[in-house]
Amino acid sequence: MKLQLAIDTLNLSDAIRLIDDLYDYIDIIEIGTPLVLLEGTKATEVISNRFPEKEVLCDAKIMDAGSFESQIVFEAGADYVTILGLADDKTLEEYVDQARKYDKKVVVDMINVENIDKRVPKLEEIGVDVIAVHTGVDRQALGRTPLDDLKEIKKYASKTKIAVAGGINENTIDKYIKVRPDIVIVGSGITSAELPQNSAERMYKAIQKYR
Ligand code: 5RP
Ligand code: MG
Repeated sequence: MKLQLAIDTLNLSDAIRLIDDLYDYIDIIEIGTPLVLLEGTKATEVISNRFPEKEVLCDAKIMDAGSFESQIVFEAGADYVTILGLADDKTLEEYVDQARKYDKKVVVDMINVENIDKRVPKLEEIGVDVIAVHTGVDRQALGRTPLDDLKEIKKYASKTKIAVAGGINENTIDKYIKVRPDIVIVGSGITSAELPQNSAERMYKAIQKYR
């Protein structure tokens, strides 16, 4: 099990400072979608060069032009790039082909996907690497969490790694760990914590026994 830090609310220089502080407690650094919008591919380029021992994920949330758009982010140095589970199968297939050429990984963000029972087997047939259960920020504000979707997806996935995201913090992480995802993604639970280093350390230690 790995811990992924989603950096959503900082600019590039603050993001680098945060990674320096949390370095020992992160497996995967996520260049969050707002950081991509703010800084472009430069954020992926700078962070992957500066932290070569860490895996870097660019949360580009690709929806179309899978081959062309994924190439832009793989060229910038991302190890993983996200595509939406709602994207067309053709977009996903092109993207998987591109990822294989670069020897990089395809992460499917399942935000707002309703037909999990049918979509997960199709994604496995297409050959994606990670399926990420995700309750987005706006649905979190309505009181939703990704826990039930995580349990549901675990029923339908037979070979693909599973990630989970959506408002997870140090008080709730144990509930998610029990369902055994491969990657736990935490954004605001660390970046908005009073003491981000302490929160990251606690969460990192919580997943240690499942490495
Ligand atoms: C929102 C995202 C976030 O990165 C993801 O939800 C993790 O952040 P948080 O833990 O704050 O929910 O991709 O679309
Ligand atoms: Mg994200």
